[in-house]
Amino acid sequence: MNILILGSGGREHAFTHKLVQSEKVTQIFVAPGNAGTQEIATNITINPTDFEAVKKAVIAHDIEMVIVGPEAPLVNGVHDFFLANDELKNIPVIGPKKDGALLEGSKDFSKEFMFKHGIPTAKYQSFTKDNLQEGKLFLETLTPPYVLKADGLAAGKGVLILDSLDEAKAELEEMVSNQKFGDASSTVVIEEFLKGIELSVFVLTDGISYKILPSAKDYKRIGEGDQGLNTGGMGAISPVPFADKSFLQKVEDLVVKPTILGLQKDGIDYRGFIFIGLMNDNGAPSVVEYNVRMGDPETEVVLPRIASDLFDLFEGVAHQNLHEKEFSVTEKIATTVMLVSGGYPEAYEKGKLISGLKTIKNSIVFHAGTSIKNNTVVTNGGRVIAVTSLAASIEEALELSYKSIDEIHFNKMNYRKDIGFDLVE
Ligand code: AMP
Ligand code: GLY
Repeated sequence: MNILILGSGGREHAFTHKLVQSEKVTQIFVAPGNAGTQEIATNITINPTDFEAVKKAVIAHDIEMVIVGPEAPLVNGVHDFFLANDELKNIPVIGPKKDGALLEGSKDFSKEFMFKHGIPTAKYQSFTKDNLQEGKLFLETLTPPYVLKADGLAAGKGVLILDSLDEAKAELEEMVSNQKFGDASSTVVIEEFLKGIELSVFVLTDGISYKILPSAKDYKRIGEGDQGLNTGGMGAISPVPFADKSFLQKVEDLVVKPTILGLQKDGIDYRGFIFIGLMNDNGAPSVVEYNVRMGDPETEVVLPRIASDLFDLFEGVAHQNLHEKEFSVTEKIATTVMLVSGGYPEAYEKGKLISGLKTIKNSIVFHAGTSIKNNTVVTNGGRVIAVTSLAASIEEALELSYKSIDEIHFNKMNYRKDIGFDLVE
């Protein structure tokens, strides 16, 4: 079977890497892909949110399944587009339709969903420019820090956490009245600050049953010790040691089951991944956010730990017999360290030659922002390469990743040397 993966990051390279191992997969196409996917699959240079271009590629290459990496095509309705088209409607899309994608596409929708279905999450209220004054009064009833979230997609930048009440009021006004994040902040969710440690749990569902994939923790800040600006993610570890059996059981009972049932009750036929961002406050889980896709770089540690055939699981999602599918996870620990361009997450240069990738033996090299220029691999983004290793302990896995990184070079390469710092003694 020929399949198409939409996206171009480390997550999509990890999907490709895992799916080439399936005997049932004939050819993999990635749109637009990167230098890493080009080595093991075929890249198609189209924009995944250009649905007409996606349609052409699907027909030209006899694609029989589409796997959507990033949120934008889902929120824009790629799955609905397929269902509405006679030539495409029988081709399964792994990823929710627009109605389900609202779990990520609208913070207000996802908060309302959680309250309606009794899923633990921070208390909140939503405001627009029409009730800005009420929003300011609501802020006065909260204790700092204040959490302000743009309702819509804001490229991961739409959440502000502020210590000062005056600043929170001013930012609220900037967001709703002056469109600080464009349309995305016409509505703003203000919510209680949650204490605890963060982690993520990933679920794959066919709308009826589900598989809970390995948990992961990512390191979002650019600087060591979790300092500095937020990034897409500088590294990740799976499993999360503080997510023990009893905590994960609570997550399943209090969050996963009511989420799947809630989707069913609301008439949302959801086929794909649910990424649940959680706070663990002394053993009690609370949902920080839903995403309707896998995380990046979490995918680079979650997929290498899945022992079963991922394509078989996707067929289960497509045909709604996921419960019959075999699913197992290796006990090994996976760590990934992201190599980024100097300057990232602010301005950075592209096109730097990357050397040493071929000599890596003890880690898996996932390409994120790379491309091929004159037959050589060059940087093509802020996050460039994720170096994943598997071992019996976090320390050993990290040692493997850092040793591999010593072999890799590009001009102004930067990475965090302390991934996992909070999890190892
Ligand atoms: P989100 O885009 O909703 O994941 O928010 C981005 C980050 O802000 C999260 O990963 C958390 O670190 C933090 N955050 C969001 N909401 C809260 C909250 N209610 N309490 C504490 N931290 C939060
Ligand atoms: N690493 C966080 C995300 O993918 O949203």
